[in-house]
Amino acid sequence: MVINGDGLTEMKKMGSESIDLVYLDPPFFTQCRQTLKDKNLNEHSFDDQWAGIEAYKSFMKERLSECQRILKKTGSIFLHCDRYASHHLRIILDEVFGARNFQSEIIWSYRRWSNAKKGLLNAHQVIFFYSKTDKFTFNPIYNGYSEATNIDQIFQKRKRDANGKTVYRTSELGNYELIEEKKGVPLSDVWEIPYLNPKARERVGYPTQKPILLLERIVEIASNPGDTILDPFCGSGTTLVAAKLLGRKYLGIDTSPDAVALSEKRLENPIRSDSTLLKKGRLAYSNQNTEILSLLNQIEAEPVQT
Ligand SMILES: C[S@@+](CC[C@H](N)C(=O)[O-])C[C@H]1O[C@@H](n2cnc3c(N)ncnc32)[C@H](O)[C@@H]1O
Repeated sequence: MVINGDGLTEMKKMGSESIDLVYLDPPFFTQCRQTLKDKNLNEHSFDDQWAGIEAYKSFMKERLSECQRILKKTGSIFLHCDRYASHHLRIILDEVFGARNFQSEIIWSYRRWSNAKKGLLNAHQVIFFYSKTDKFTFNPIYNGYSEATNIDQIFQKRKRDANGKTVYRTSELGNYELIEEKKGVPLSDVWEIPYLNPKARERVGYPTQKPILLLERIVEIASNPGDTILDPFCGSGTTLVAAKLLGRKYLGIDTSPDAVALSEKRLENPIRSDSTLLKKGRLAYSNQNTEILSLLNQIEAEPVQT
């Protein structure tokens, strides 16, 4: 469901502990009107101008408190922000959710090309991850080992030989044996996910539209199929599309009728632009076990240096 209205008013109508996951990508306190044109040159925009930081902080605190109330005990919140106000928002989150429920400061890092500004190029945004309690839902994701990692050493079972030296263990047929429980490297808090390029299929021309891949990752780690996900600043509906693609229920709220119309349209025909970079990474990981086994079985057994 997508509701056209103010996030605070709409959340106040919701029951306590009724939502499994909240993701919010509010205006960032850029003090300008965010505007963009789509492929048909229709303009989409939303306002991000405030009387001052205190006005912004109290706007955010009211909404974050309501998010806290409606989250289930197993729920979590992911707040997307950037350098303009992340330092203020972290303090508010500590006040509302409790510092003990802080889980991660996720850095979403992406490449950009610009030489317009003196100083360092801004190439990341921040997503604060807080849980409601320590019983929060969390589904770990594992990535492949980097090329520099000595995977043959990590993956092989070992044994002591007659001289007490550690050597790789082989089966009766002489093949190397893999340690099954090595799942890969747990996902870190630095996420390299490409920013939507101007030609991306999923781009609808809404200002500050986020990539579905980013939202899919959040939905995947912090909720289960059938769970209910809320985005109280849904914009063009990226969170809702990710939730739909992953079999979750979704609820989006936005004050802009244009954003609601875009979200509804996207939900009718969800499109995700796959990243070749990420696809390669996933493929490498899923093929890794098989590849490593065949590689290992081609080389000769050598004692492990201990
Ligand atoms: C940064 S954009 C969200 C972009 C979205 N994540 C996407 O991928 O398209 C912020 C949105 O918050 C909406 N907004 C601003 N104030 C709001 C309020 N009080 N309640 C609900 N939505 C609001 C704006 O209309 C805008 O669509």
